Amino acid sequence: MSMLSNRKIVLGVGGGIAAYKSAELVRLLGKAGAEVHVVLSEGGARFVTPVTYQALSGNPVWSDLWDARMPNHMAHIDLGRDADAILVAPATADFLARLAHGHADDLLSTLCLARAVPLIVAPAMNRQMWESPPTQRNVAQIRADGVAVFGPAAGDQACGEVGMGRMLEAEELLERLEGFFVPKLLAGRKVVLTAGPTFEALDPVRGITNVSSGKMGYALARACAQAGAEVVLVSGPVSLPVPADVKRTSVTSALEMRDAVFAALHGADVFIGVAAVADYRPLASAEHKLKKTADTLNIALTPNPDILAEVAARADAPFCVGFAAESRDMVQHAREKLARKGVPMIVANLGPATFGRDDNECVIVENSGDTTLPRADKLTLARALVAHIADRLNAA
Ligand code: C5P
Repeated sequence: MSMLSNRKIVLGVGGGIAAYKSAELVRLLGKAGAEVHVVLSEGGARFVTPVTYQALSGNPVWSDLWDARMPNHMAHIDLGRDADAILVAPATADFLARLAHGHADDLLSTLCLARAVPLIVAPAMNRQMWESPPTQRNVAQIRADGVAVFGPAAGDQACGEVGMGRMLEAEELLERLEGFFVPKLLAGRKVVLTAGPTFEALDPVRGITNVSSGKMGYALARACAQAGAEVVLVSGPVSLPVPADVKRTSVTSALEMRDAVFAALHGADVFIGVAAVADYRPLASAEHKLKKTADTLNIALTPNPDILAEVAARADAPFCVGFAAESRDMVQHAREKLARKGVPMIVANLGPATFGRDDNECVIVENSGDTTLPRADKLTLARALVAHIADRLNAA
C-alpha cells in the first residue's frame, strides 16, 4: 500500500510551463490513493486550465482568495487545515521570492503563510533564474524556515537551454512525496546493498547470467533511502531506474561487484546482499568471439567469491543481511545459510518463481526465531524489512 493512501494533499500550481507535469502528478497521486485539492495561481491557469485539474482530481479547483464556494470565505485557511502536506509544483522563482518574504497577496501564497502543515516546493525555472543570487538566497531562506525542496534537476529546458532548473518528473515527485511520509527509521545510518544478477563473460558477446530482475534489491534500496539512510546500491546489469537519493554503482561480474562493495563499505552500518551472484565464472574469458569448431564445447568454471560471507567475516563487519531464494524447505535452507555465511539475518523467499514478479512473501530467519512477512508488493515487504533491521540496530 502506498504511503500516500488516504492522505490529503493540497497541490499548488505556479505559473510555469512545468505545470503540464503537475496534471500527470494529480493523476498519479489519485492512483496512489491520495485525495488531491488543486490550488491554481493566476499564472498557473495560463498554462493548464482548471478543467483539467478538476477532471483528474475529482475535486473543485481553487484560485480565488475570495471564492464564495467556501461558506466562510476562508479558502486560505480551510484548504490547508486538515491536509497532510501542501506541495507547490511548479514553484516559480517569483513564488519562492514571495514565500521567502512572507507575501500573502493571492490564494496560494496566503495558504502557504497560514498553514500548520508541512510545505514542499518543487522549483521550476530557467537555469539562470535558478542560479541567480536572489533565488539562491530565497531557497536558503525557505529551507531554513523548514520548507522541503524537491529538485530541481538538470537537463533540457523549455527555453532551449540546458542546465539546472528543470522540475522533477511527475513520477519522481510522487516517489519523493511518498518518501516524505516514511518514518526515518534509518536516519544517520549508511546501507550498502547488492542487487540484480551478475554476468560472467565467456567471450566479448556471451556469458553466464541468471533471470534476477533486481526488483527486490531496488525496492529495498528505495525503502532504505526513504527511511533516511545514506544508500549505496551496487547493481548488476538490470534496466531499472535509480531510486531517489540512492547512489548506484553499476557492475557486470561478481568480481567487479565484490570490488565495488568493498570500496563502498567504509562507515556502513548495514550490508544487504540481495544480488543473485553467479556461483561460478569461466576460468578464462576469450579475447575474441568463440567460434563454432566442435560438436562439444567444454567450459572450465571456477567459483566466485562469496561477497556476503566475506563482508560478514570482516572485523569491522556491518550488520549483514542475506537473501535466500528457495523453491522448497525455505526456512530450513535459510537457517543453514545463516550459519554457513556467519550472518545474523537471512530473508528467505519463494524463488526462483518470484524472479521478475512485483510481489513476494518472505520469512526473516534469525537465531532468535522466524518472522513471516505475508505476500505483498516488494516495496511493502522492503519497508517491513527496514523496520525489522532498524529494530535490530537499535537493540545493538
Ligand atoms: O549461497 P547463496 O547464493 O544461496 O546465498 C545467497 C545470499 O548470498 C544472497 O544474499 C546473495 O546476495 C549472497 N551471495 C553473495 N556472493 C555470492 C553468492 C551469494 O554475496 N557469491
